[in-house]
Amino acid sequence: MSKQKNLDTSFFGQPRGLSTLFFTEMWERFSYYGMRAILLFYMYYAVSKGGLGMDQATAASIMSIYGSLVYLASVVGGWLSDRVWGSRRTVFIGGVLIMFGHIALSLPFGISALYVSIALIVIGTGLLKPNVSEMVGGLYSPEDRRRDSGFSMFVFGINLGAAVAPWAVPWAANGFGLNLFGGEMNFHAGFSLAAIGMFFGLVQYVIDGRKYLSKDSLYPDDPIDKEALRPVIIWSLVGVVALIIILGLLAAMGQLNINNIIMLITIIAIALPIYYFVMMLNSKKVTKAEKSRVVAYIPLFIAAAIFWAIEESGSVVLALYAEQRTILHVGSWHFAAANFQTLNPLFIMILTPFFVTLWDRWKRQPSAPGKFAAGLVIAGLSYVWMALPAIIHGTTAGRVSPFWLVGSWFIVEIAEMLISPIGLSVTTKLAPNAFKSQMMSMWFLADAAGQAVNAQVVKYYSSATEVPYFLIIGAVSIVFGLILCLFVKRIHALMDGVD
Ligand code: GLN
Ligand code: ALA
Repeated sequence: MSKQKNLDTSFFGQPRGLSTLFFTEMWERFSYYGMRAILLFYMYYAVSKGGLGMDQATAASIMSIYGSLVYLASVVGGWLSDRVWGSRRTVFIGGVLIMFGHIALSLPFGISALYVSIALIVIGTGLLKPNVSEMVGGLYSPEDRRRDSGFSMFVFGINLGAAVAPWAVPWAANGFGLNLFGGEMNFHAGFSLAAIGMFFGLVQYVIDGRKYLSKDSLYPDDPIDKEALRPVIIWSLVGVVALIIILGLLAAMGQLNINNIIMLITIIAIALPIYYFVMMLNSKKVTKAEKSRVVAYIPLFIAAAIFWAIEESGSVVLALYAEQRTILHVGSWHFAAANFQTLNPLFIMILTPFFVTLWDRWKRQPSAPGKFAAGLVIAGLSYVWMALPAIIHGTTAGRVSPFWLVGSWFIVEIAEMLISPIGLSVTTKLAPNAFKSQMMSMWFLADAAGQAVNAQVVKYYSSATEVPYFLIIGAVSIVFGLILCLFVKRIHALMDGVD
C-alpha cells in the first residue's frame, strides 16, 4: 500500500491525491476570504447602500469573533474525524455546510441570514479545515521525503484561493463591471460567488476523491466505543446547559446583547488553550521530557496569538483603513477597498520560495523561538508603520497613498513567514505522543485566541484613534518579541532536543 503511494508522482511529482486536496482547500479558502473581503462592508454600510447599517465598532468586533470561532471549531472537527466519521466524510459535510452558509448570505434576509451563515460556516470550516490538512499528511508514508514540499504546495493552494477571491467576489458584488446594480454594491451577488466557489470545490472533491484518496480516510483513526462515548455526551450536555444558564442569567439582567455574547466567546477562546495546557502538563500519559516541551510551547503559543491578532486584523482594521483613509486609485487604475485583501496571500506566494531557499542554505540559522521573536518584532513594525501617515501629514483626515497599506502588508508577511510555517512544524515536533491531534488544534487555537482578543480591541479603532491604536498594539508586539529574544536559549533548552 505505502509502496504504491510512494510510486505515485502524477501531480508535479506528488501523489495524485494532493491535487484533490489542493483544489478542495483552494476553493474553500476562495469562498472564505472572498466572503470576508466584503463582509465587513456589508455589515456597516448603510441600508440604502445595500448594507446592514450596523455601527462600525460592532461590525469590526463581529469580524474578529467570527474568525476566532472558525478556528475554535477546528477542535470539534478534529475530534469528530478522529473518533466518529473519518476525515473524508468530515471534510465533505464541512464543505456542504460552508456552501449553505454562503448561500444564506446570498439571499436578502438581512441580519438573521448573517447569523445563520456565521453558524454554518463556523461549524463547516471547523469540520473541513483541520481534516483536509491532516489528509495531506496521510498521503505520505513516514519515510517519504516529499512530505514537506507537498505541504508547501498545499499552502500555495490556500494562498492562491485567498489571493484571487478579493478580486473576484467584490467584482461580482459590483455587477461584474457591467453596472448591473445601478452603481450600488449588491453584496448578495458577491456572496453567491463564494457559494459557487465552494460548490466547485465539493464537486471536484467528490469525483476526484473517489479515485485518488486512500480508503483509510473513510474510517476514523480511533473509533469511539459506547463506553467512551457516554462521558463525552454527558460533558457536552453539561457544557450546553452551562451556556444556556449563562445566557439566561444575562437575559434576566437585561444584558443579553451582541457585545456580551462576544465577550463570552472571548473568555472561552482564552480559557480553552489554558485548559489544554494544564491537562497536558498533568496527564500521566505525558513523559517528563514531553512535559518540558509542552512548557516550551507556552511562550511560543502566546507569541503566535499576538502575531495572529495583528495578521488577522488585516481584514478588519486595515480593511477600514483602506475604505476610509486610502486613495483608491493609482493613476487611472481604480480599485475597491476590498481588493487590498489580496496582498496578504500574494506576498506569501512571492516570499515563500525565498524563505524555503533561505532555510535550506542558512547553516547557523536561529531556532524556532528565535524566529518567533524576530517575527513578533517585525509584525509590530507593520503596525508602527501604519501610524506614520497621520504623523507625517499631521492629521487623520483625508486620504493617503495606497502604498502605505502595501508596505504594511509586505512587512507583516515577512513576519508570517517567520511564524506560520515554523509554528506548524514546531507544533508537530513538540507534541506529546498521546496528544498529537490535540496539539495540532492548539496551533489553530493560537489564532482563535488572538482574534478573540481582537474582538475586544478593534472596537477602539477609528480614524480618530488610529495613531495611538497602531502605536500601542505595535509596541506590545515589539516588546513581547524583545522579551522572547532574551529567553530564546532557555526555551530552546526546554524543547529537549527539538530544534
Ligand atoms: N491563513 C492561513 C489559512 O487560511 C493560516 C491560518 C492559521 O494557521 N491560523 O489557512
Ligand atoms: N495568510 C493567510 C493564510 O495563509 C491567507 O495563509
